[in-house]
Amino acid sequence: MSPSAPSKDPAARAAELREIVEHHRKRYYEQDDPEIGDDEYDALFRELETLEQEHPELARPDSPTQRVGGAPLSKLEKVRHEQPMLSLANARTAEELQGWVDRMTTHLGREGITDPDFRFVVEPKIDGLAMSLRYEDGLLVRAATRGDGEVGEDVTHNVRTIPDVPLHVEGAPAVLEVRGEVYIKLEDFRRVNEKRAARGESTFMNPRNSAAGAIRQLDPKAAKERPLSFWAYGVGVVAASAAGEAEQEGVQGGTAAGVGEVLGVSGHHGTLLWLKEHGFPVNEDVSVVASVDDAVAACERWAERRDRLAFEIDGVVLKVDDFELQRRLGAVGRDPRWAIAWKFAPRTAVTLLKEVIWSVGKFGDLHPYASLEPVNVSGVTVSQATLHNEEDLARKDVRPGDRVIVLRAGDVIPQVISPAPHEAEREDRGPKPAPPALCPSCKHPTEKPEDSVFTRCPNRGRCPGQQWQLLRHYVSRGAMDIEGLGEKQVAQLLDKGLVRNAADLYDLTAEQLLELEGYGEVSANRVIAAIDASKERPFARVLFGVGIEEVGEITGRNLAARFRTIDALRAATPEQLAATPGVGEKMARIIHERLQDPAVGEVFDRLRAAGLQLEVPQTEGDAGDNTLLEGLTVVLTGTLPSLTREDATQRLLAAGARVTSSVSKKTGVVVAGEAAGSKLEKAERLGVPVLDEDGLQRLLREGPSVLEPVGGEDETHPDGVAPDAARDPEGDAGVDPDAPPAD
Ligand code: IVH
Repeated sequence: MSPSAPSKDPAARAAELREIVEHHRKRYYEQDDPEIGDDEYDALFRELETLEQEHPELARPDSPTQRVGGAPLSKLEKVRHEQPMLSLANARTAEELQGWVDRMTTHLGREGITDPDFRFVVEPKIDGLAMSLRYEDGLLVRAATRGDGEVGEDVTHNVRTIPDVPLHVEGAPAVLEVRGEVYIKLEDFRRVNEKRAARGESTFMNPRNSAAGAIRQLDPKAAKERPLSFWAYGVGVVAASAAGEAEQEGVQGGTAAGVGEVLGVSGHHGTLLWLKEHGFPVNEDVSVVASVDDAVAACERWAERRDRLAFEIDGVVLKVDDFELQRRLGAVGRDPRWAIAWKFAPRTAVTLLKEVIWSVGKFGDLHPYASLEPVNVSGVTVSQATLHNEEDLARKDVRPGDRVIVLRAGDVIPQVISPAPHEAEREDRGPKPAPPALCPSCKHPTEKPEDSVFTRCPNRGRCPGQQWQLLRHYVSRGAMDIEGLGEKQVAQLLDKGLVRNAADLYDLTAEQLLELEGYGEVSANRVIAAIDASKERPFARVLFGVGIEEVGEITGRNLAARFRTIDALRAATPEQLAATPGVGEKMARIIHERLQDPAVGEVFDRLRAAGLQLEVPQTEGDAGDNTLLEGLTVVLTGTLPSLTREDATQRLLAAGARVTSSVSKKTGVVVAGEAAGSKLEKAERLGVPVLDEDGLQRLLREGPSVLEPVGGEDETHPDGVAPDAARDPEGDAGVDPDAPPAD
């Protein structure tokens, strides 16, 4: 946007701001290429909001401010769909697909069309909720759920909060109904669950449920907490003029040819392009094929990509492209003849829930697990599954002896979803499983704090279950990284009474290890050497490793950077702790309380006596260094093996980097984990360096030099100028756009 002096007249300024904000919203959400920072955008947005509040006559329904949502509703209104929202017949094999094409050919033959020219549009079947968006004169006037296909519910207030749903469509016909799927990206889903778990709230079972719940919220602010996305996959009612709408009739309950005429397209693929051109998000990987063989191959490609996508899909949809053929084919019952869903092998299975087992976590939280009759779920035998927490368990109402539905998806731990159909009606069901009155590990009476979804074992320090969790965390790679000690070895040491806490590790001798099963002289000495080497880990890691409630890796770093010594940290008041970046008041109180615990104090004293680093050396600037990555713009995508998104963000921010959410040419580096989707693809396309978690750790230690291409230091560009490092005003250069990813 070219900058010019802002208008003084409120009406003109409001119009100007609407245009500017909308422009930047598009750059961000639709083109993935923001021109301004989040702060600047927020300032413009707030200016518009204030102006509209001061001059209510200037408010307009398509203003970007209207996305934020107004007052909560008391109930959702029913909406009758002008054209029913249809469903899809299924196919699972190449033969079934061929059968579908044969049936269409026969049907068309009866209509006098021989040898039809079938082209099929292949689209992902997104696992979300079908949505109808109605635009009148280009303005979004109503969004409705599918409901039973005939009558849905008005959820306009929530759909307005979805950033990729346009509120205004330039060049739209008088009436336009866009259909598509509202869904939640896996990344957003995980973030929502992480936040809820951190607040002690119950987590959502899967993205679809989370999206479905969000869209039916009465309060749009509650919906906004669960960031929703939208994908357009078709058009319902269209009319060039309001009067024209009444004349519609035809296949989808409306006329496909009508869509073609009004939008000036001849088929479904053209419609998708039209939607894309008019600002709707359309899946980029939609393809067109001309034979059953190619269609099957395309479906198999989607199945193969399924676990790497940024969102859940449960199949592929195949649609006959040509509108005239669609019209001739019509529908049978609720299913159009011209479309079919290729369903993937189910990732759920039904099996017997033998027992609910409770395990104790690092800080005493009790977690329920399901012990299952082993069952094959999409190729993998599953005999244990998570039941999340006791609230989830109660809500699902699964009981030992029930047949239950088990889901295994992507990289997440298998989970029990619900009882199998009709199981809950059985008369001979066992009692509801309740959290145990005694800790399953130490038999200490358990307790349930009011503000938590977890019953806990309060026997800190002495409960062997908690000791094991704390120790296996201490030796783990992300913490003190003691090679040769894993969860099994730690359990062995605890069993033999050789250790109880981290400090005890430093009193171990090779002779003691030799008496344990599985150790020879070499391995025993190696472990002792590894324990010794851990004395060199910086103070921040010790803080994280010891396991203090609320002290994750980042908080450990921030606390170390701020207080520099364990003595200063233990002397800090809750108020002083709360002044640390990322530490809120509640966190500060918990950390303070834990640090005052004499048992925790004793561990630190003994660790210091053993020679561990319990302060930041004078010369070490790293933990407090907030300039190392100054000017570098970083995008995180996918799930990293050990760092949470929040931790990685905080570490980058602490080192001075900017963390943004969309990839553009200005992005300095993309850090990609498991199930990284379109952002990774875009980075690769733009030549933005990509790092994994190890690479990120190196970046945080060594700075942007790790992004330099190997051996690239002497290289000059053909024009004789060094790669733009010296010239780039953004300062995120030193990154050769043609360089291969750094890892
Ligand atoms: S087309 C006339 N396309 O699947 C066909 N549906 O069983 C109507 N879905 O309720 C739907 N992705 O919620 C279509 N690319 C896609 C889809 C899709 C997901 C859902 C949709 C619908 C259900 C059909």
